[in-house]
Amino acid sequence: MKALQIVELSGPDSALKLADVPEPEPSHMLTPGEGVVVDVHAAGVSFPEVLQTRGEYQVKPPLPFVPGSEVAGTVRSAPAETGLQEGQRVAAFCMLGGFAEVAVAPRFLAFPLSDDLDFAQGAGLILNYHTAYFCLKLRGRLAEGETVLVHGAAGGVGTASIQVAKGLGAAKTIAVVSTDDKERVAREAGADEVVRSDGAWKDEVKELTGGGVDIVLDPVGGDRFTDSLRSLRENGRVVVVGFTGGSIPEVKVNRLLLGNTEVVGAGWGAYVMAKPEANLEIGAEVNRLVDEGFVRPIVGERFPLEQAAEALKAIDERRATGKVVLDVVT
Ligand SMILES: NC(=O)c1ccc[n+]([C@@H]2O[C@H](COP(=O)([O-])OP(=O)(O)OC[C@H]3O[C@@H](n4cnc5c(N)ncnc54)[C@H](OP(=O)(O)O)[C@@H]3O)[C@@H](O)[C@H]2O)c1
Repeated sequence: MKALQIVELSGPDSALKLADVPEPEPSHMLTPGEGVVVDVHAAGVSFPEVLQTRGEYQVKPPLPFVPGSEVAGTVRSAPAETGLQEGQRVAAFCMLGGFAEVAVAPRFLAFPLSDDLDFAQGAGLILNYHTAYFCLKLRGRLAEGETVLVHGAAGGVGTASIQVAKGLGAAKTIAVVSTDDKERVAREAGADEVVRSDGAWKDEVKELTGGGVDIVLDPVGGDRFTDSLRSLRENGRVVVVGFTGGSIPEVKVNRLLLGNTEVVGAGWGAYVMAKPEANLEIGAEVNRLVDEGFVRPIVGERFPLEQAAEALKAIDERRATGKVVLDVVT
């Protein structure tokens, strides 16, 4: 089969090479001897793949390897207990191996894909939306009627979080973005309000909410963190999701005492990989939000498999909006 391999750790421009490789066995390292084999139509591209081209991600397989953590396509074969049928449309999280014509996912990380979503949207469903649900509901304890501020709101996790927050009953979502184009994308995702990261966003947020938000969802980190804490109302939570801004913030914990606020860490992968039941529940909840019309992944740039380097560079250079997708079979 055709696949893209990372052959050297030299960055998005030169690390990838198109190759002809054997198709995977119906077995995944998380469910040895079992796996859902998927004929891939679209593969999602994310930050970890950018890091993998430089050997900077925590998962470091020996070279060469096929990257690609999530796909959408049709089932070629699946263990009986998944209930998935041959030919059924699915979204699947394979961790590695997604930039290929055939990929294999663990038994508990392949989910029926609604007819309301195309394959490109399906390739943006699991990493971003499962993370958003996990961060907002399980870690952030989002309750109906609360207000949510989302940093990096035009990105993959950001657009997903705006939609999931609405689906979970948030009264108001506020997006923080850096450009006009990203403001448009955040509004397309459903943000009620949009503020600019280079402006007086903290003060604007306080005014828009009459005192502060209940949850800040933060995939960006960096030097805006203290203002995130200052944006909370009493009992508010900052949910730490990632550090695209480059630096890992430090918290002076007296601020938490003074404001009666919390900082909550949220690492979806580490939490769910050993918990099949949690995955199935999150998958069912996300699919419910799809059925109710809240979840509609925003697909940004699309590239053929051969041009994956361009896809990775769009993310690396902060140009990406929504989910960047590789069309594997069109
Ligand atoms: N904790 C978890 O379980 C979990 C799960 C999935 C992903 N993540 C992490 O969440 C983060 C966001 O992922 P994503 O897929 O949403 O990424 P993305 O689509 O590239 O969006 C990231 C956003 O970060 C903002 N940003 C600020 N400074 C940046 C910089 N120097 N370079 C690039 N972007 C910058 C950008 O928004 P503005 O330009 O508007 O500021 C950008 O839209 C990543 O670090 C990822 O590893 C964590």
